[in-house]
Amino acid sequence: MTEPAVDPRTVTEAAALLRAGRLCAFPTETVYGLGADATDADAVLAIYETKGRPRFNPLIIHCADLAMAEALAEFSPLARRVASLWPGSLTLVLPAKKGNGLADVAMAGLDSVAIRVPDHALALELIAAVGRPLAAPSANPSGRLSPTTAEQVRQGFGGTVPVLDGGPCRAGVESTIIRVESERLVQLRAGAVARAEIERRLGLAVAVAEKSAAVAAPGMLASHYAPNAQMRLNAAPRDGEAYLAFGAAPDFDGVTRNLSPAADLHEAARNLFAMLHELDAAGVGVIAVAPIPEEGLGEAINDRLQRAAAPRD
Ligand code: TXA
Ligand code: MG
Repeated sequence: MTEPAVDPRTVTEAAALLRAGRLCAFPTETVYGLGADATDADAVLAIYETKGRPRFNPLIIHCADLAMAEALAEFSPLARRVASLWPGSLTLVLPAKKGNGLADVAMAGLDSVAIRVPDHALALELIAAVGRPLAAPSANPSGRLSPTTAEQVRQGFGGTVPVLDGGPCRAGVESTIIRVESERLVQLRAGAVARAEIERRLGLAVAVAEKSAAVAAPGMLASHYAPNAQMRLNAAPRDGEAYLAFGAAPDFDGVTRNLSPAADLHEAARNLFAMLHELDAAGVGVIAVAPIPEEGLGEAINDRLQRAAAPRD
């Protein structure tokens, strides 16, 4: 796909593309997803190709409702309890049902499957209109920043991928991923719903997967979410750098964005990728980033910042 793509103007047009086995990026409340019919192996392979994923990482399967999800995975009573938080920015890793119709490549040959029901009207309408689950990783070239606007998707893929425009994403970071085990919940990726919030709403503890453990969510440990600039975390800006501030910011005579002048972590999560995109576009060599408290959504924000700062392959 190298010709310029024509964007769908309606959910119906986007659904027609997806039903025909084509890719279409679509908005969710977290970030834009690069969608394909999850039952169509060729369409799913086109996701890997378009993103340039170096190897096959399993994809998140987006469902319109619990009924669609139940056809794909085994839901224990514990899983059902967690799924009561859907629609939402919460992905559950569950045992896959045999013969669930999903393309093997979508699950990367694993016997588990990652599923979520997004909390976004357009996304839900789109999945319902396609009538099939949609595989959708974040709609960015592999290893780059996740897009929170349609324009960032177009730029990322050089205009070759059709995008259903739903405006800016309101959460701004990817979903929280929880593996449902027989008797406990394990967070594999911090994300748009804070772990403490999940614990409070469910009245259940959520463990954190050990970072050093065998890659629980494959592909999550490498450098990811990378801007072109180098990143310096927990830092004050120096001359010639760009500065990503949080809360009260020191005077600085360079390119600056403030994630949240009021030090609100929701606002900061929403702004994170968009502001990193903007600072990166300024062409500076280094982005200095203010300290972010490691509480609530700060867990997800710091996780993304550390990945952005990690050595590149
Ligand atoms: O908010 C989001 O989650 C966005 C939007 C589009 O929904 N999607 C997203 O997808 O972030 P992606 O592909 O960028 O991240 C999916 C993560 C990967 O790290 C993958 O390894 C993990 O989910 N994953 C998928 N299936 C898994 C499984 N069966 N077990 C463990 N991890 C899994
Ligand atoms: Mg991603």
